[in-house]
Amino acid sequence: MSIHIHPTGSASAALLAELHAKAFPANQAWDMATFSQILALPGHFALILTEGDVPMGFVLGRTAPPEAEILTFAITPEARGKGMGWALLQALMHEAPARGATEVFLEVAESNAAARALYAKAGAQEVGRRQRYYADGAHALVLRMALEP
Ligand SMILES: CC(C)(COP(=O)(O)OP(=O)(O)OC[C@H]1O[C@@H](n2cnc3c(N)ncnc32)[C@H](O)[C@@H]1OP(=O)(O)O)[C@@H](O)C(=O)NCCC(=O)NCCS
Repeated sequence: MSIHIHPTGSASAALLAELHAKAFPANQAWDMATFSQILALPGHFALILTEGDVPMGFVLGRTAPPEAEILTFAITPEARGKGMGWALLQALMHEAPARGATEVFLEVAESNAAARALYAKAGAQEVGRRQRYYADGAHALVLRMALEP
């Protein structure tokens, strides 16, 4: 597997929306305008993962030092289970300190076993809980990961 991870910006908004639509249910889709607007905001960034030339996933984050936040994180269904999510999370955990963050927060659905296992493997600790956070009524866990400088 030859994977490459690189930062990207608003110019990739359409691609990020396409990847997001593949990775999440239709009622949770974020459109191109949403990505474009978010990436134009200060401190916001995206990392995109490609295998060969084919985009397979991305993470969208923001830093407001000393904190960073993962806004969304996705690997396309056909690419899962091959270590790409782990590689992307590692890249995020290098990018965020370079942008001044010492810790990263995120919300994950309590029912999302795959993502919870991924973040747990990276040392994430549960620091909060948001009742009925998602549109379908699912609860969210707030997780925190400490970052190496
Ligand atoms: C969560 C997600 C990013 C994982 O990506 P992935 O490329 O399949 O993950 P990896 O192959 O790199 O696996 C890394 C670790 O994640 C965990 N994991 C991944 N898939 C899992 C699954 N189906 N069940 C349980 N644990 C899983 C494991 O701990 C795994 O480590 P291991 O291989 O040593 O057991 C992917 O399933 C996804 O995009 N899901 C839909 C979108 C989503 O839920 N995003 C997160 C929102 S907070």
